[in-house]
Amino acid sequence: MSPVASDSAIAEAAVATPVPEDLEPAVAADGGESVEQNVTPWEVQGADGQGIDYDKLVEKFGCQKLDEATIARVERLTGMPAHPFLKRGIFFAVRDFNDILDAYEAGKKFYLYTGRGPSSESLHLGHLIPFQFTKYLQDAFKVPLVIQLTDDEKAIWKNLSVDEARRLARENAKDIIACGFDVTRTFIFADFDYVGGPFYRNIVQIARCVTYNQVKGIFGFTNDDNIGKIGFPPVQAAPSFPTSFPHLFGSDRDIRCLIPCAIDQDPYFRMTRDVAPRLGYHKPALIESRFFPALQGENTKMSASDQTSAIYVTDTAKQIQEKVRKYAFSGGRQTKEEHRALGANLDVDVPFKWLTFFLDDDEQLEAIRRDYGSGVMFTGEVKDTLIALLQGMVARHQAARTMVTEEMVDVFMSPRPLPNMFD
Ligand code: TRP
Repeated sequence: MSPVASDSAIAEAAVATPVPEDLEPAVAADGGESVEQNVTPWEVQGADGQGIDYDKLVEKFGCQKLDEATIARVERLTGMPAHPFLKRGIFFAVRDFNDILDAYEAGKKFYLYTGRGPSSESLHLGHLIPFQFTKYLQDAFKVPLVIQLTDDEKAIWKNLSVDEARRLARENAKDIIACGFDVTRTFIFADFDYVGGPFYRNIVQIARCVTYNQVKGIFGFTNDDNIGKIGFPPVQAAPSFPTSFPHLFGSDRDIRCLIPCAIDQDPYFRMTRDVAPRLGYHKPALIESRFFPALQGENTKMSASDQTSAIYVTDTAKQIQEKVRKYAFSGGRQTKEEHRALGANLDVDVPFKWLTFFLDDDEQLEAIRRDYGSGVMFTGEVKDTLIALLQGMVARHQAARTMVTEEMVDVFMSPRPLPNMFD
């Protein structure tokens, strides 16, 4: 799942995912029940209806915050301006990212790995974020990319038949391809079709290194979870090791892996990093994003199961307009006078937050921050700016998707050598 990431599944979490012990709701000092922040691959919930506390998350997970100096280093090494997602702190947490840059600077190779759980027919805007960012990384560093479609994961967790999950994987592949990936450097695979051979041999080696107690601690599984769930984490771990892709990397064990993902996927890769040295691999490096907020507000990410919380890449211009006007949570004040006096509360304003994700023009964004935040500009104007931006983005995505043919999907998804993947 992800900001992207995944599709998470708040509802699904309620049915199927147990709360790990250390995340059990705490009882507040005053005796009232208070809900603690909970972020797992299946649930993203802020404390007591508040936004996610990302500093707390970084501390709890044990990753590091991405700093300005590292962003400047990326610009220097790639000769390209940093992506707005970097400059604006949307991809904000890292593990061993500087090791990747060191290797790259020394002329060594690395590859990118990301993925998606195909749980729904169409993607929402939050799902595009990791793919847009991964495309930037691929273009900037000129490196190969593997994209895992975990149709097996979704068949295990959701009420989806194996065939339906496989169908959704292929449909989602079209949306992913529409993000503009370079076919000479990209391999997309769905687990139900690709897993076997060296990939499966890695799964078993990983699985042998992890005990039931450990997965319970990392993922919160309980005795009532089906055993497919318990066995799944090594499947998401395996693409972090280059020998899972012999058609790309032969038997090279030394090539490093960088994983862009939403921070809710961190548990999978904490586990992977723990076993990597024991199997003779580098630990995969990570660059992790915040969640893209639901229209209704910041304290969760968008849910595929709530149609009004998200804008889909299949929405019409009219639907986009209606959803933003009707549902986007505003930090504007109750009356004109109050708004002029106090300005909008930008900390909770969803239209403004969404603009920080998708409005590339730094100056325009700053002007809105200033004028809306000081009360000169009103919510209606900010929403209109957002609506026009999203309508353009979605229309471009739809046009790109109609250009994706079945043959193109077959090519992206065929295990084949990519001879110029580092050029
Ligand atoms: N578990 C992710 C989801 O549900 C899919 C996924 C598989 C993934 N491999 C990944 C996401 C690597 C990010 C990086 O969407």
